Amino acid sequence: MGAQDISSRQFAALGRMMIRPLLLKPQWMNGLSERLLVSHYENNYGGALRRLNAVRARLAELDWAHTPAFEIIGLKREELIAAGSVILHEIYFESLGGHGDNPPVLAEPRGTLAQALERDFGSVHSWRVEFTTMAKALAGGSGWAILAWSKRLSRLVNQWAADHAHALAGAHPILALDMYEHAYHVDFGAKAAAYVDQAMANLNWERIDARYRMAIGKGTEEDHLFLPFGAPAQEEARISPEELKLALEDKGDRRPVLLDLCLPRDLPRRADMLAGASMHAPAALARWIEELPRDRPIAVYCICGFQVSGTAVTELRRRGYHARALVGGITAWHAIGGPTVPLDSSTYEEGP
Ligand SMILES: [Fe+2]
Repeated sequence: MGAQDISSRQFAALGRMMIRPLLLKPQWMNGLSERLLVSHYENNYGGALRRLNAVRARLAELDWAHTPAFEIIGLKREELIAAGSVILHEIYFESLGGHGDNPPVLAEPRGTLAQALERDFGSVHSWRVEFTTMAKALAGGSGWAILAWSKRLSRLVNQWAADHAHALAGAHPILALDMYEHAYHVDFGAKAAAYVDQAMANLNWERIDARYRMAIGKGTEEDHLFLPFGAPAQEEARISPEELKLALEDKGDRRPVLLDLCLPRDLPRRADMLAGASMHAPAALARWIEELPRDRPIAVYCICGFQVSGTAVTELRRRGYHARALVGGITAWHAIGGPTVPLDSSTYEEGP
């Protein structure tokens, strides 16, 4: 089997947790900086994911009968902490962001979740007061403020969590607010309360509501809500960072050609690139498309895997090229620990 034949499902079957892309546009959030959000995503979420995969790999090769108990317990403890961190960070990041290409707007929960909050807390306002006060009470410490659905308790609960492994048994987290200092220190210093208010002003209630409906078994076909805005809709037009990393180990003609696309206004946001990639302006497609081979796979990436790579891949595929867009862009590539080299923009087209 060639490297490019390995699908996401097969990675999962191997016990590997795969990165989830950012759904928020980090440069357009209200009062949460790109520097903070991207560092948090790449280093803390990505770090937890890398740690989890490393622990799982160690567990997979463990001689259980002859390993000392303290080593087994140590690994299992690390596995639990890393898995909790990965899952809660995914819920956190997916709970933030605007709709499509728009920045977030201060909104209230609607639909099924709003009714459930009214039922269980008296009103949405009462829930919000309780949730934010609980989160602010974690200032100076660390942990998570979680809104979770408990089937056994038959209600939504605001749950305090002292760390990544602290959960209400059997409950489904709907919304998770990261109260570790790394989630806010870059922008807010020690002012955790200001961070809580700002995070609450960036919530994407459509996705949180969808998560609640999935938790109570009433979720429908809403995969589009959890796909980066502008990414190609067809799965075969996308490539995960893990698949790309493996595909790049191929030295033959199945190794993907790497295309780095960046809008002129986004050039100042860039510092590095994938080794061997050539960098181009999306608007100059008519010029750079001539360089692309028709008999090789092509992997196209941009900063976060939104419409810059998505639009180009759709066009390339329409013209018969074997192009796929990197899910989550170079940001997700960083988060899985993918190697990069300093940015070389010598191939970038000037002007229209
Ligand atoms: Fe975090």
